[in-house]
Amino acid sequence: MQYKPLSQADPEVHQCIVDELSRQRNGLEMIPSESYASPAVLRAMGSIFTNKYSEGYPRKRYYGGQVNTDKLETIAIERAKKIFKVDHVNVQPYSGSPANLAVYFALCKPGDTIMGMDLKQGGHLTHGCKVNFSAKYYKSVPYGVGKNGYIDFNQVRAIAKREKPKLIWAGATAYPREYDFKAFAEIAKEVGAFFAADIAHIIGLIISGVHNSPVGYADVITSTTHKTLRGPRAGMILCNGNASEPLKPTPEITKENIPTLIDKAIFPGLQGGPHEHTIAGIAVALKEAQTNEFVESNRMIIKTCKIIAEELLEDGFNLITGGTDNHLILMDVTNKNITGQEAETALEKINISVNKNAVPNDPRPPFSPSGIRLGTPCLAMRGMAEQEAKIIGKCISETLRNTNNSQIIEKNQKIVNELCLKFPIYSGREVE
Ligand SMILES: Cc1ncc(COP(=O)(O)O)c(C=O)c1O
Repeated sequence: MQYKPLSQADPEVHQCIVDELSRQRNGLEMIPSESYASPAVLRAMGSIFTNKYSEGYPRKRYYGGQVNTDKLETIAIERAKKIFKVDHVNVQPYSGSPANLAVYFALCKPGDTIMGMDLKQGGHLTHGCKVNFSAKYYKSVPYGVGKNGYIDFNQVRAIAKREKPKLIWAGATAYPREYDFKAFAEIAKEVGAFFAADIAHIIGLIISGVHNSPVGYADVITSTTHKTLRGPRAGMILCNGNASEPLKPTPEITKENIPTLIDKAIFPGLQGGPHEHTIAGIAVALKEAQTNEFVESNRMIIKTCKIIAEELLEDGFNLITGGTDNHLILMDVTNKNITGQEAETALEKINISVNKNAVPNDPRPPFSPSGIRLGTPCLAMRGMAEQEAKIIGKCISETLRNTNNSQIIEKNQKIVNELCLKFPIYSGREVE
């Protein structure tokens, strides 16, 4: 069989890829949940492992021809085990939400009470938001943040004691501070709940030692692999203990059985064949995560984020919690007489992507919230450092204070364009 290159086989799809590459090269990506997968990760994902069915787990498959998939999946698992110093890893979740779904499926029965951070206060959909399965099939009793924007552990403890949840989540999608995993673990222990840490956003920071790790505190840890890990769009679940061999048919829901329960929840509970091509990408990302370059870049993610926060604070912006400890800033822009949507649109004009976002206790509706969420993973991954962060902070501030001034928009657009040229991403031809 003779194959044509994508540009000839499907010019329309090829053009979409070319245009997206150009958009990514020529703008500053400041959506904190995004990152750049390396050409090596992209190459592994786009490999012939996409052809292979491998239901089951290494050495326990339901299909033949597994010599290479077993080797590959084991490499990914062993790398994650080594990095996090945990006993058991499942690399098959199709993404972060299915990984979280597997935790519910493994540890809870329908109707059980579960507790996570309120979406409106920064939590994730899958932690008990009322429109999500996690609140439709379980009783969700969310916790939030205090007046200062920090997680209010008195509130978390009071709700946990009153509601006696089966499962408590730590982790969020718009929380600019470090998590006190120890405090969550203590509360979970007090009320006899399982404690799950969702480190989707901060996994790279944890690997790099610039953010607390939940290992040793959480009963189970979930993550995406496409945010600060810079891997393919997928998920991962980590825990301690070992899965039974063979997987017991109906293990009791106990801490000792968590590895078996998780594996059974993923397959055959929720998923069929694992995406081995994606697992190939995860393996490569985990190898890259063990380099000094990865660690240094994660350090710079936090450094640059703090610098941008300082610039914005100096100009009177209202940052939730008054700053940041991590890779993101959550900012209420209404004191500048604009909405989150208007801020997002104004920054798009200067080729900076951020997302509109609700702020804690937001009086505005979800489609037009009061804030924006912005972050620095992609800036640091392009090699930008303190000096560039200062420039970008000023650009953002000036643009948001002058959303109707075309001269200022034009000036800042030029600055952003120059930065993109000076710090190129995907500059070779390997991703074209
Ligand atoms: C904390 C957290 N958990 C889980 C997810 C879900 O990941 P996915 O979008 O891959 O389903 C996200 C995504 O934004 C997240 O921020």
